[in-house]
Amino acid sequence: MRELIRINQPLIGKEEIEAAVAVLKSGTLTNKSGAGPKVLEFEREFARFVGVKHAIAVNTGTAALHCALLAAGVRNSDDVLTPSFTFAGTGSPILLCGAKPIFADVRSETYCMSPEDVENSISRRTKAMIPVHLYGLPCDMDPIMKIAREKGATVIEDAAQAHAAEYRQRKAGALGDIACFSFYSGNNMTTGEGGMITTNDDDLAQAAKMIRTHGEERPYWVSRIGNNYHMTEFAAAIGIAQLRKLPEFVQKRRENARILTEQLRASAKLAIPIEPEGTRHAWYLYTVRLIGANAGRRNKVVEKIRDKNIEAAIYYETPLHLLPLYKEVSGVRKGSLPETERAARQVFSLPIHAGMTSEEVSYVGDTVKRVVG
Ligand SMILES: Cc1ncc(COP(=O)(O)O)c(C=O)c1O
Repeated sequence: MRELIRINQPLIGKEEIEAAVAVLKSGTLTNKSGAGPKVLEFEREFARFVGVKHAIAVNTGTAALHCALLAAGVRNSDDVLTPSFTFAGTGSPILLCGAKPIFADVRSETYCMSPEDVENSISRRTKAMIPVHLYGLPCDMDPIMKIAREKGATVIEDAAQAHAAEYRQRKAGALGDIACFSFYSGNNMTTGEGGMITTNDDDLAQAAKMIRTHGEERPYWVSRIGNNYHMTEFAAAIGIAQLRKLPEFVQKRRENARILTEQLRASAKLAIPIEPEGTRHAWYLYTVRLIGANAGRRNKVVEKIRDKNIEAAIYYETPLHLLPLYKEVSGVRKGSLPETERAARQVFSLPIHAGMTSEEVSYVGDTVKRVVG
């Protein structure tokens, strides 16, 4: 029997292990300001990679988003505009600020937040918006930024899934006012758990650094709300090694996506993912939509693929606006985000991670073709 092909898996080599062990032996595991030598080195390298002035390391992507929202001054009288078709890690930080999430629908062909629906949903109360670069594909940021500028809203990119993605020759993380990455173990690069904030704005960077350490302006002088969101030194050491491999990881994902697309593009029963002109997909996930008579069979199809030892996955089956918690705070009702609700019923994701062989990718393609019929 073939070994399970996981939806994503960390690729840890001797570089990461040696770097982590060296830190563990050094005795300096963390720093009370959140910025020990390895964290500072990781921040410098990450900022250079993304092409921004500042990078601030934290301990999860959710923490990064919470810091960014607080740094943008979001509080309980504010609205934050975001897609509902996303992981809870996008929504929780909005609720933690006491703000109200307002959900915009997604584009049917990319599953990213629709600028047209942003235009319809934005209001005077919208303090910030969080476009999510879903599955590793950047949102259509030019129109989103234009609307945000007109209305004075801060744009926080959720780049948790989009390391090394590009939009009009700029990297995800350098497209909004501030951006947040996750280094969870399934992501394109990992520190086990971890996060990074990137920005060109000196004030937002300074605020995020303070929020990461309880809102301290200087040691034991707390002047704003914060938390303990420090990244450890050994996580940063792993992150440095992973960042050096990131271009190669993403290249492999791109190649795997190309192979799958070759195999699946002729199927009349699937809508395959696209890479719109001017974007460079980071291919965190390869997400397909069942179309035609098959559309209602998604869960059965996924079950059958999983029976063949391929960890096909359904993400965001219940979009945020249909969860009782969010329904209550946002007041959004079923049927109000038609593309989101349709995607939540019809799409599923396939593995294309950098640890897969081309033979495994072809096996995934063949199996999907056979199951979908
Ligand atoms: C879109 C999105 N936003 C936020 C997060 C939160 O990141 P973390 O799990 O590191 O807290 C994730 C997790 O990968 C995510 O996929």
